[in-house]
Amino acid sequence: MTATTTAALRSAEQVVAPADGYASDALARLGDPHARLLAGPAEFGHEELGAHEVRLGALELPSSAGSRAAFVDLISAAGINGRGGGEFPLATKMRASIGAAGATGRPVVVVNGSESEPASRKDRVLLERRPHLVLDGALLVAAAVGAPQIVIYLHASSMTTHAAISRAISERPADEIARILVTTNDGGFVAGESSAVVSALSGGRAAPVRRTQPAAASGIHGRPTVVSNVETLAHVALAARFGASWYRSAGGTQTPGSTLLTLAGGLTEPGLVVEVTGAVDFATLLTTFGEFAGPPRAILLGGYGGRWVSGGAAWNVPIDRGLLRRAGVPLGCGLVAPLPASACGLEVTVRLLDYLADQSAGQCGSCLLGLPRLAAQLRDVVDGVATRGEVRRILELAQGVSGRGACAHPDGAVTLLESAFEVFRDDVRAHARGRHCSGRASGWFPLPGDMNLTDLS
Ligand SMILES: Cc1cc2nc3c(=O)[nH]c(=O)nc-3n(C[C@H](O)[C@H](O)[C@H](O)COP(=O)(O)O)c2cc1C
Ligand code: SF4
Repeated sequence: MTATTTAALRSAEQVVAPADGYASDALARLGDPHARLLAGPAEFGHEELGAHEVRLGALELPSSAGSRAAFVDLISAAGINGRGGGEFPLATKMRASIGAAGATGRPVVVVNGSESEPASRKDRVLLERRPHLVLDGALLVAAAVGAPQIVIYLHASSMTTHAAISRAISERPADEIARILVTTNDGGFVAGESSAVVSALSGGRAAPVRRTQPAAASGIHGRPTVVSNVETLAHVALAARFGASWYRSAGGTQTPGSTLLTLAGGLTEPGLVVEVTGAVDFATLLTTFGEFAGPPRAILLGGYGGRWVSGGAAWNVPIDRGLLRRAGVPLGCGLVAPLPASACGLEVTVRLLDYLADQSAGQCGSCLLGLPRLAAQLRDVVDGVATRGEVRRILELAQGVSGRGACAHPDGAVTLLESAFEVFRDDVRAHARGRHCSGRASGWFPLPGDMNLTDLS
C-alpha cells in the first residue's frame, strides 16, 4: 500500500467510529430473508421462473420511448455501478449505446459470466441459483437500449452453470428464448475482460484488444455492445421492481445497493458467497465467517490482481465499494481473502504472480516478458537468493510493466506485487536473511487445476 492509501484507510477508520459497532445481520447468506440478491430458497438448485415471479412479481419491460428513457434514469438514480471490477456507471454505458445505435447497428447486450478470477464464485452462484434475476436484468437493459439480442458469455469449464442457465432460459416465454444465446469461451484469466469478450463474440480470440472506442459505442462487429457483469444485471432486476430509493436504502455510505463477496484464504468456508446489505466492517465479516480474535496479518482484496492490505489497517473499515475505491483498494470482483496465520504472504504472492504471468495473452511485450521476469525475481527473493540491489530493481521493473499493456492485466499483477512488498516488508528482509517457508497456499488461494471450485455448488 502506498503512503497515501494507508492514510486514506486510516482516515476511513476515523470517519466511522468502530465503537458504534456493525451489525452482523447486515451480512446475508443464500436464502436469508433480509438478503437481496441471495434472498429466496436456500436449498440446492436453481429458483424456477414460477417461484421467482411469486416471490418478486412478474417482470414489466419498458416498451415505449418514454418508459425506456425513464428506465435509464432509474438506473442512474439508483446509482448502479458495474460489479465486474471497474465499477463503471451502468446508465452511462446504456446512454452511450443508445447514442451510437443506428450509425453502427442495433445494440447487443452481453451478460459477462466468464468469472475468470479463480477464487471468485459470486457470478456462478447467481447464474446457478438465481438465474431469473440475471435474465430479468439482461432483458430490461436490452429493452431500454433497443437490443434485439442478448448473449450470455460463460467459461467453457462452467458446465453446471451452463446447464442451470440453459434450463432457466427454457422456462421463459418463446419470444424471450429466441433472443437469448448462451456461448462459452475457453480462454484464461483475461478472457472476461470486456474487449476480449467483444473479440471472442466477433469471431476472434478471447484476448484483449487495444480499442479506440468503448464497446458500448462500437463492440461486436461494430455494433453498440453493453457488456455487463452478472451481478450488475441481477441488481437491475431488483431496482426495476422496487425503485431507486429502495435500491439505495441498502449498501454503504458511498455505494448504493448490496454487494456480493466471495470469501477465500483463512476463512472457515472458502468459496462461500456472502451478501453485504448494510453497514458492516471487515472485523464483522471476518469474525462472522472465520476464527479471528483480532486482525489477520493481511487481507487480499479485489482478486488475484488486487491489493494486499494490512489486516490492522482494514479491520474497522466499512465494506463499501466506493469508499474502498477512493482509498485505493478497489473491491474488484468482490474477493476477500485474509492470509491464514500459518501462511507466508510472499509465498502466496509468488504463486499468484506465477499464475498471472502465465495468463498473459502474449500480445504486449511488457506483459509477455515483464510478468514472468517479475515472478522469477520474486521467487529469488522468497528463496533468499536475491541481493538487496535485485530486491530494489524488482520494484523498478514493476514500474516499467504497469500501464504498458493493451489491458489492465499487467497493472493488476504489479499491484499485487507492490502491495506485497509494502505489507510483507518484514518478510522480505527475513527471506533475504535465509528464512524458508513451507509454501503451503493452494487450498486457501485456489488456482484452476488444483481445486475444483468451478462446479461445486
Ligand atoms: C484481466 C481482466 C479480466 C476480467 N475478467 C472479468 C470477468 O471474468 N467477468 C466480468 O464480469 N468482468 C471482468 N473484467 C471486467 C470487464 O472488463 C468489464 O469491465 C466488465 O465485465 C463490465 O461489466 P460491469 O460494468 O457490469 O462490471 C475483467 C477485467 C480485466 C482487466
Ligand atoms: S496487457 Fe497482457 S493480457 Fe492484456 S492484451 Fe497485452 S498481453 Fe494480453
